[in-house]
Amino acid sequence: MARTIQADEAVDEAVELLDGGNLVAIPTETVYGLAADATNGEAVAKIFEAKDRPLFNPLIAHVADMTMAERIADFDDLAEKLAGRFWPGALTLVLPAVENSRISGLVTAGLETIAVRMPVGVARLIAAKLGRPLAAPSANPSGKLSATTAADVEAGLGDRIPLIVDGGRARIGVESTILKVDEGNLTLLRPGGISVEDIEVATGKPVERVSSGSTVEAPGMLASHYAPDAGLRLNAVEVLNGEALLAFGPKRAAGVDRAKAVMNLSPDGSLLEAAANLFSHLHSLDRLGARIIAVEPIPDQGLGAAINDRLSRAAAPRGGMKK
Ligand code: TXA
Ligand code: MG
Repeated sequence: MARTIQADEAVDEAVELLDGGNLVAIPTETVYGLAADATNGEAVAKIFEAKDRPLFNPLIAHVADMTMAERIADFDDLAEKLAGRFWPGALTLVLPAVENSRISGLVTAGLETIAVRMPVGVARLIAAKLGRPLAAPSANPSGKLSATTAADVEAGLGDRIPLIVDGGRARIGVESTILKVDEGNLTLLRPGGISVEDIEVATGKPVERVSSGSTVEAPGMLASHYAPDAGLRLNAVEVLNGEALLAFGPKRAAGVDRAKAVMNLSPDGSLLEAAANLFSHLHSLDRLGARIIAVEPIPDQGLGAAINDRLSRAAAPRGGMKK
């Protein structure tokens, strides 16, 4: 069982746990979130582990104020107007990510955009005291309904997290609206707590709906997935001429001396560490200009399944929908 503490008494302990790389369930006005320090890759990897998420979907970064928001996302005038009108609140903006911010690559799943939201109440206070954004998906096991009370969180995740901050029943009870702001165009990626009509009135701009009527379950899946320029060769037991090597664990593939470059996801063979390093290592090897990145076998259990899923998407031929 997790400890459940009333919101007003829980802030300091929540901040301490988050600062130490632990997960904390926090109330927001939409639904409860399963939060980690968004700048700590291993902490973010724990979210996927706790939720049993088979996929690395990008996560929302929850910020305390505009200064924090502008450190991680580029706001044009339109985005600033939306934030000014609806924040703190149930609107998530997908914006260009600031390069070289301290946000873990696992939060954006390697994309060049980042989803940002300023929540109401204690979640915002916790982000402010931590001084860093909180990565937080809804606090439910993968495939289950979002949690709107501390008891829901306890039922779904209680045995996997140390602390649930109890802020009572979530006021809105559905997730935030996700809106992509891209060079003056607005696209609805997920309907939610703020209505499209209110967004159109506030901005004087039409909002494009990507899905005709149907709810988009995982809007991140619609965004183009991060794929390196280099080809990927999975389960490599040998390095071929001209290849770079993405290694895992203490044992090296044959012919490692031939590799143009080697980066190890986790020398100790920790899947948590490997998940945390996945996107940044891929980016680094890609930037070196290798035509092919050979990837050593990664065990397909726990977070390994999500790592392998992401690697096989990145390895799939370009063009068309990647499954
Ligand atoms: O109300 C909410 O939004 C709650 C509370 C906790 O804030 N959070 C929430 O998170 O619903 P989650 O992870 O369950 O849903 C976030 C959605 C995911 O479907 C993800 O694919 C999408 O946001 N997303 C995140 N970053 C994105 C990006 N850069 N581009 C497109 N979609 C993105
Ligand atoms: Mg969710």
